[in-house]
Amino acid sequence: MSELDGLLIRDLRVSFDGFTAVDGVSLTVPSGDIRFLIGPNGAGKTTLVDAVTGLVRATGSVRFGTHELLGRPVHRISRLGVGRTFQTATVFEELSVLQNLDIAAGARRGWAILARRRRGVPDEVAAALDTIGLAGHAEQPAGTLAHGQKQWLEIGMLLVQDAKLLLLDEPVAGMSHEERDATGALLETVSRDRTVVVIEHDMDFLRRFARTVTVLHAGRVLSEGTVAQVQADPRVQEVYLGHPVDTGSAPSGGE
Ligand SMILES: Nc1ncnc2c1ncn2[C@@H]1O[C@H](COP(=O)(O)OP(=O)(O)OP(=O)(O)O)[C@@H](O)[C@H]1O
Ligand SMILES: [Mg+2]
Repeated sequence: MSELDGLLIRDLRVSFDGFTAVDGVSLTVPSGDIRFLIGPNGAGKTTLVDAVTGLVRATGSVRFGTHELLGRPVHRISRLGVGRTFQTATVFEELSVLQNLDIAAGARRGWAILARRRRGVPDEVAAALDTIGLAGHAEQPAGTLAHGQKQWLEIGMLLVQDAKLLLLDEPVAGMSHEERDATGALLETVSRDRTVVVIEHDMDFLRRFARTVTVLHAGRVLSEGTVAQVQADPRVQEVYLGHPVDTGSAPSGGE
C-alpha cells in the first residue's frame, strides 16, 4: 500500500459564481483504504467528487497514482481508472445485467473486441458478476432488479472498466439492512486492490465499514482519522448536534 497508488488531493477549490463550495481541501487516500467522506448537507462532498472526476472546474491538484487529473476531460479521467457512481443508479433498465456489464466493458475495450467475443462471457464480466453477487441474475433485465442489486450492478460496471479508484455517492441510501451488509462486504472485497471513497450519511454503516473518515464542513476538512477519533472530536459533535457531547456516541446522523 503506497501513497503513489492512491488519491492525493491538494488545495482543491471549486467556486460557483463566487460561492466557494470546496474551499482548499487537501486529502490523501492510500491504496487499499475505504475512506468515508461525511459532513452535513451542502458540505461539498459531491462537488469534491465532481471535481476529481472532471465534471466541474477546479483549481489545486488531484493526483491519482502518477497522473494529474485536474484539467483532463471526463473520459480521460475514467480511462485512468477513476470510476464513480451517482446517488440514483444509472443502469440500462431494459437490458440484462450481463448486457449492462458488457457495454461498460466495451466502453473500455472498444467495440471491435466486444463484437468478436459476443457469444461468450468475457472473463472480466464473469468475474464482476461473481464479485457483485449477481451471477444468478445475469439474464434478468436490470430494471427488474431490487434497489440494492442495481447499486451493485453499477459497482460491477466500474469493475469491468478496471476502475482502480471508486468514488461512491451514498451507495446504501434506501437499502435494507441485509443489502447494507452485503454492500459493506462488497466494499471490503473491492478495496483489496483498489482505493474506495464513500460519501455516506448512514452512521451505522460508517461505524462498521469505514477504515478512515474525513469530515467536510462548509467546503473544508473539519476532522480526519479513524471512526473513533472523528466521533470523539468536539468540532464534529458541534456540527452534527449543535453542541459537544460527553459520550463517544456522536455523530448520530447527518440527514
Ligand atoms: N452547480 C452548482 N451551482 C451552484 N452551486 C452549487 C452547484 N453544485 C453545488 N452547489 C452548492 O455547493 C455546495 C456544496 O454542494 P454539494 O452538493 O457538494 O454538497 P454535499 O456535501 O454533497 O451535500 P448533500 O449531503 O446534501 O449531498 C452547496 O451549497 C450547493 O448548493
Ligand atoms: Mg451530495
